[in-house]
Amino acid sequence: LNNGLALTPQMGWNSWNFFACNINETLIRETADALVSTGLAQLGYDYLNIDDCWSYVKRGNEGQLLPDPKTFPSGIKALADYVHGKGLKLGIYSDAGIFTCQVRPGSLDHESDDAALFASWGVDYLKYDNCYNLGIKPQKRYPPMRDALNSTGRQIFYSLCEWGEDDPALWAGKVGNSWRTTDDITDTWKSMTDIADKNNKWASYAGPGGWNDPDMLEVGNGGMTFAEYRSHFSIWALMKAPLLVGCDVRNMTSETLEILSNKEVIQVNQDPLGVQGKRISGQGKYGCREVWAGPLSGNRLVVALWNRCSETANITMKLPEVGLDGSAAYSVRDLWKHETLSENVVGTFGAQVDVHDSKMYIFSPAVSVASS
Ligand code: GLA
Ligand code: GLA
Repeated sequence: LNNGLALTPQMGWNSWNFFACNINETLIRETADALVSTGLAQLGYDYLNIDDCWSYVKRGNEGQLLPDPKTFPSGIKALADYVHGKGLKLGIYSDAGIFTCQVRPGSLDHESDDAALFASWGVDYLKYDNCYNLGIKPQKRYPPMRDALNSTGRQIFYSLCEWGEDDPALWAGKVGNSWRTTDDITDTWKSMTDIADKNNKWASYAGPGGWNDPDMLEVGNGGMTFAEYRSHFSIWALMKAPLLVGCDVRNMTSETLEILSNKEVIQVNQDPLGVQGKRISGQGKYGCREVWAGPLSGNRLVVALWNRCSETANITMKLPEVGLDGSAAYSVRDLWKHETLSENVVGTFGAQVDVHDSKMYIFSPAVSVASS
């Protein structure tokens, strides 16, 4: 969507994966504090997004949406002010149907009023779900909210949450800044890998202004190993997915923070070229020794060697497979070790990768010794 936003994928935090409906204004304030104190905000995680369940079950007398008085007694405007005071932006959630998925009021046929209200509160981001949609096509229900947000005059990121049933990649580029390509992620290896494959299919439709959304991060929620979370984060970054943290950032382990704050991997995700990397090949039984890659700005290329097999594996590739010149020399940087491995890789490359883990590299044209 050409609204000046999403030139790179959005980064931030969302309440749903860890808290579901157990949210309140204190949690949101503490999360704002934690995003800043952990350094995540500084790294670019600047949208603080409240998901479903912030609103009261009924609209007010004038038909207006009301924050739940028990959990958000000070109102959303006060919260937005607090969040803005920390240098962050506030996101909120509604639905392109008559109810949200948790049966709070939806915005269908209330688009202008609701958009105006969000803007008056200082909201910066809207996640717009697809439940209780009366069977009306999303292509019909999503544009009215885009237009309503646009006419508020406030820049509001527009995130579509239709699960891919109507192939949003094919039409949502003109409607929203990101669109879901799959059903909800769960905190399991199976869900994460299935979703990666589904999202991969739509790679060519992503770009500055509009991104495929394979759902929010589960890193730190406890259902996967360190290696699996590292793969999750690496592949989401390479696929130019939104990086929306979904754990309790007030209580993270150092391992969780280490993954989420890997600056070199974040830079891959935020690369200005904005091309979604994809699965290039899979070797071995079930093709589980996978190579994923994509171009970056400055004639560079990112490669992830992802071991989806059930034992340690050697994953190798020929450089032309991923689009590199088979006879040129490359400098290779390891983004998890944070070191340059070689200034002179020619022809082939490979590494040993632990079970379910990933190694991630940037290949850049080697600078010849003579010219230095
Ligand atoms: C749907 C969405 C989730 C979350 C919930 C809230 O399942 O896909 O991301 O927003 O609704 O009810
Ligand atoms: C319904 C819709 C999906 C998705 C889910 C919950 O199943 O068809 O697109 O929005 O609700 O989010």
